[in-house]
Amino acid sequence: MPSPRDASPELQSAMDDMADAVNRTMERMLPEHDGPEAPLYDAMRHGVLGGGKRLRPFLVMQSASLFNVDSSRARRVAAAIEFMHCYSLIHDDLPAMDNAALRRGQPTVHKQYGEATAILAGDALLTKAFKVLGERETHEDPRVRCELVRELAVASGSGGMVGGQMLDLIGETEEFDLGTISRLQRMKTGALMTFACEAGAILGKSDDPHRKALRNYSRDLGLAFQVTDDILDVEADPQDTGKDTGKDEEAGKATFVSTMGKDQAKERAEMLIEQAIRHLKIFNGRAKMLEELAQYVLGRRA
Ligand code: IPE
Ligand code: IPE
Ligand code: MG
Ligand code: MG
Ligand code: MG
Repeated sequence: MPSPRDASPELQSAMDDMADAVNRTMERMLPEHDGPEAPLYDAMRHGVLGGGKRLRPFLVMQSASLFNVDSSRARRVAAAIEFMHCYSLIHDDLPAMDNAALRRGQPTVHKQYGEATAILAGDALLTKAFKVLGERETHEDPRVRCELVRELAVASGSGGMVGGQMLDLIGETEEFDLGTISRLQRMKTGALMTFACEAGAILGKSDDPHRKALRNYSRDLGLAFQVTDDILDVEADPQDTGKDTGKDEEAGKATFVSTMGKDQAKERAEMLIEQAIRHLKIFNGRAKMLEELAQYVLGRRA
């Protein structure tokens, strides 16, 4: 595994531009509120705005660009996925789950607004994601909107992110073999990344081989991303990641690092990233940013 490094200038600038545009879309979708329920809106804004790598939105925007999808539509799907991701982080940080105090360099939502409000803010972001996908501005074809809604539900529900989170908690007290840990990680982290990559293909009504290539890319990328997250939990600087380190060992989590050690986990991540990039061949060099993103995931510091 290469030593930690920053993204290439080209990738960095593409990610910055995308983050600015998607942040503006999300800010518009999350207005402040003056009624007595204002703390709910403040907590939602705290959980979404101000921080985060916006990696899943980047995957949506890049995959959509491969099929010449209108960028304002793609930005709406990117925002919906980021809402879903941010809800998952708010709930992941709760005392009943990972009990984390710091996220994106700020107090976690429950630390700032209390547990009940954090649960509700997560619930409201989860439902908002589906509202955004269901609206006509996302795509004029109702079949496309319906497919987006269904695929996001599959990726984030009991067979995807939520099911993976359940396995993650069970893994604190039960021994898991490597196969089960891979399944856990593909579900809790990989599934949403796969939806982010396939969303561009769904919006652009792609043919099957191109959609499948993105799915295969994202499966390897998603697993490698969680393996590097587990490595960062052991060796990163909290100033870079914006979250406390050493949490996985403290909770006794079943990870690639706890099972095979840091060095072998790094080798595994490297192998997955090489494999991910190979799946992009079908795009004949047009998926350069997705290739670079995969390299960046391997050497990331945050
Ligand atoms: C953190 O995701 C949770 C995992 C699935 C590992 P990110 O590392 O993408 O978090 P942000 O969005 O950049 O804060
Ligand atoms: C979280 O995994 C995956 C989610 C679905 C939220 P982690 O618990 O390892 O994520 P961090 O390290 O808290 O960001
Ligand atoms: Mg967790
Ligand atoms: Mg956590
Ligand atoms: Mg982690």
